[in-house]
Amino acid sequence: MTTPSSDSPAQATHEGAREATPEEVRAYAGRVREDVEAELDRLVPAESADPPSVHAAVRWSLFAPAKRFRPLLVTASGETFGARPRQLIRTACAFELLHTYSLVHDDLPAMDDDDLRRGRPTCHVKFGEATAILAGDALQTLAFQTIAEDETLDAPLRVRLVAELARAAGTPEGMVAGQAHDLAAEARADVGGKELERIHRRKTGALIAAAARAGALVAGAGREEVRAVNAYALDLGLLFQITDDLLDVTASASDLGKTPGKDARANKATYPALYGLEAARARAHEVFESAGAALDTIHTPTPMLRGLARLVLERRA
Ligand code: IPE
Ligand code: IPE
Ligand code: MG
Ligand code: MG
Ligand code: MG
Repeated sequence: MTTPSSDSPAQATHEGAREATPEEVRAYAGRVREDVEAELDRLVPAESADPPSVHAAVRWSLFAPAKRFRPLLVTASGETFGARPRQLIRTACAFELLHTYSLVHDDLPAMDDDDLRRGRPTCHVKFGEATAILAGDALQTLAFQTIAEDETLDAPLRVRLVAELARAAGTPEGMVAGQAHDLAAEARADVGGKELERIHRRKTGALIAAAARAGALVAGAGREEVRAVNAYALDLGLLFQITDDLLDVTASASDLGKTPGKDARANKATYPALYGLEAARARAHEVFESAGAALDTIHTPTPMLRGLARLVLERRA
């Protein structure tokens, strides 16, 4: 079988299980980040718009230096199956808006009580708790509005994407459920491996899986392809939180842009706490392999998706 040539680095340039090189991934991620940040700037009301306190807080949290990993995944997945960048950009932004809301609320005193995020004082430290709660709310609603008003997509697709995002963000199987479970687990000493995996899959994995699925849906990928991408991204999301747990133990505040060592102090259920560093790293490798294997079931070459899995496995921030 020959592979059609393509101008998109997310698509096939070779057949089979080729993985994009770290340089290719870095270059691609840099381009997506630039495009997404420019589009986010167009989507978010100006700081001067009423109420200025909320818009200043939204912009403070959103435009701090960040990886933009969920938009990257929407784009890489969508381009893998043939979507054009202009059809993906708003959905990519929607995932970043939703994710940033989750960070603003995650940092609140009633939740993880953090004072450093994306290299800056957290939203509530800078603007006060009430404004931070409202900024999170505004980010969340703008995420759904952005998809609903995306005129590059037909109406049934927009409805499907809104539903996917809502399920991934909410309860019972999405981020809010995972966050509740994460907080409840702080008070318990009996959280085992199965339960920990469930916490991580809901609080972080659900949104990451939905990002990958959303890209594939925009591209009009087939049922088998969507199923494979979903299986890949469920593992990728778990891997993302395992490496987040590891970095909380091993990385510095300047690399992370957030305060390390907080998980142990808060008595969080994490992979290093439950298994130790070496076994947690081994589990990360297993989950990485499993993510790649999920892609083996489809014929479409997936170099960038494979490269993104390695990026998550080996990330330092
Ligand atoms: C942090 O997300 C919260 C988790 C789900 C682990 P990221 O590591 O993607 O943080 P940013 O968006 O780059 O700041
Ligand atoms: C975050 O998990 C999951 C979210 C939904 C925000 P963490 O609480 O570990 O994320 P960080 O370490 O504060 O970024
Ligand atoms: Mg948390
Ligand atoms: Mg936190
Ligand atoms: Mg963490």
